[in-house]
Amino acid sequence: MNTSYKPRLAILISGKGSNLQSFIDAIQMNVIDAEIVCVISNNPDAPGLEKAEAAGIPCQALDHRQFPDRDSFDVALAELLEGYKPNLILLCGFMRILTPAFVERFAGMMMNIHPSLLPKYPGLHTQQRAIEAGDTKTGATVHFVTSELDGGPPIIQAEVPILEGDTAETLGSRVFEKENLIYPMAVRWYCQGRLSLSNGRACLFGRPLPPTGFAFQG
Ligand code: GRF
Repeated sequence: MNTSYKPRLAILISGKGSNLQSFIDAIQMNVIDAEIVCVISNNPDAPGLEKAEAAGIPCQALDHRQFPDRDSFDVALAELLEGYKPNLILLCGFMRILTPAFVERFAGMMMNIHPSLLPKYPGLHTQQRAIEAGDTKTGATVHFVTSELDGGPPIIQAEVPILEGDTAETLGSRVFEKENLIYPMAVRWYCQGRLSLSNGRACLFGRPLPPTGFAFQG
């Protein structure tokens, strides 16, 4: 038996790679027993590529602007990913809408984190929208990816209070602190074989999680 086997994580980014860094750190601190086998960015100038390089992780850009349409980019991305034989694909600030064919190809093995309490505020500018709506809380959601934008089954959700005087930036940085906790937690569960996608629901130990995911406290 090969005792050195570790789950293989592939990470997709478009920008800073903030969540990528939290996975690099979580693996280094043995919070997650896995290996990041590749970091791929659709944006060749993504600063996150430097974070991957600094950590000695194979990384490369696949520039979507070099492809005539979304389908052909997604086919190339899928082929590139498959070459790395990932067990789990993590979207970390990956700013591309994926085609249903791509999502289908990796069904149940792709996660995303979104800075809102989904199903509230899918898409962009989530903090600003929550503040403008007069909400008293917001948060972050880790979810399995489906072809619906930010619409896949939630795995973990963490709440963050909205305080008087909060701006999108101050609120965003407190939400990000929670992201750093819950995204690695979901990945750890997956790598331990506890978490799966079954019949359209995220399941922990084979039992469906609540519709908004596990409620993270802390
Ligand atoms: C995270 O805050 C996450 O909520 C969202 O993208 C952000 C990371 O993007 N999905 P980046 O690494 O700062 O570009």
